[in-house]
Amino acid sequence: MQIDVLTLFPEVFEPFLRSSIVGRAVSSGLVEIGLTNIRDFAHDRHKSVDDAPFGGGAGMVMACGPVFEAVESVSARRGGQPQILLLTPQGRVMDQSVVRELVGQEWLLLLCGHYEGFDERIRMGLPVRELSIGDYVLSGGEAAALVVMDAVIRLLPGALGHADSAQHDSFSDGLLEYPQYTRPREFRGMAVPDILLSGDHGRIAAWRREQALERTRQRRPDLLSAREMPAEGRRDEND
Ligand code: 6GU
Repeated sequence: MQIDVLTLFPEVFEPFLRSSIVGRAVSSGLVEIGLTNIRDFAHDRHKSVDDAPFGGGAGMVMACGPVFEAVESVSARRGGQPQILLLTPQGRVMDQSVVRELVGQEWLLLLCGHYEGFDERIRMGLPVRELSIGDYVLSGGEAAALVVMDAVIRLLPGALGHADSAQHDSFSDGLLEYPQYTRPREFRGMAVPDILLSGDHGRIAAWRREQALERTRQRRPDLLSAREMPAEGRRDEND
């Protein structure tokens, strides 16, 4: 998979790309990441990429010119057309089903804005899909792009140590994860549930399922109702 990031702050991404699961995916060639500074496509001598809004008002707006040219330059570097993701709180809120869709793409281009927003013609003139990571406001798209990349890259086949570890994630079956324990068996008076030490894999699987359901019921009942919707095609539970 190829992921290009267009940003005014490419340096923000570098330590992340060297770390942990993402770093390993990059060095093993599962994903190639290109960082492009939108400011390199500014034309005036101040290298400006933003301007005051027509009609007045507070803040600055990301201008069309440098953004269009940066997207066109990156797109022309290789064949085909990337899926362009415009990171903005106005976009569809990302969830695990969006992430699974994105993993199916060969080439993603993440467009990070700053300032008060994008000139509307960026939305009109480029084939963008707008994506938000939640209902709160960030000062720019970079932190959101990191979230998108992390969520996507860890699902690439081979990115995680265990072949099936992504299948047990919270959300992979629409439920939160069950409680996990490791050694020691007892820590400061808190014991690991006996069933996990029983060696009975069938009963352990049933216990985990029950715990995941109960935890979801208590903390995120909205996930259970979403799962029951036929449109989701997920009528795999009999509860
Ligand atoms: Cl993608 N960008 C910004 N600036 N704020 C956000 C966001 C994105 N998603 C949630 N808040």
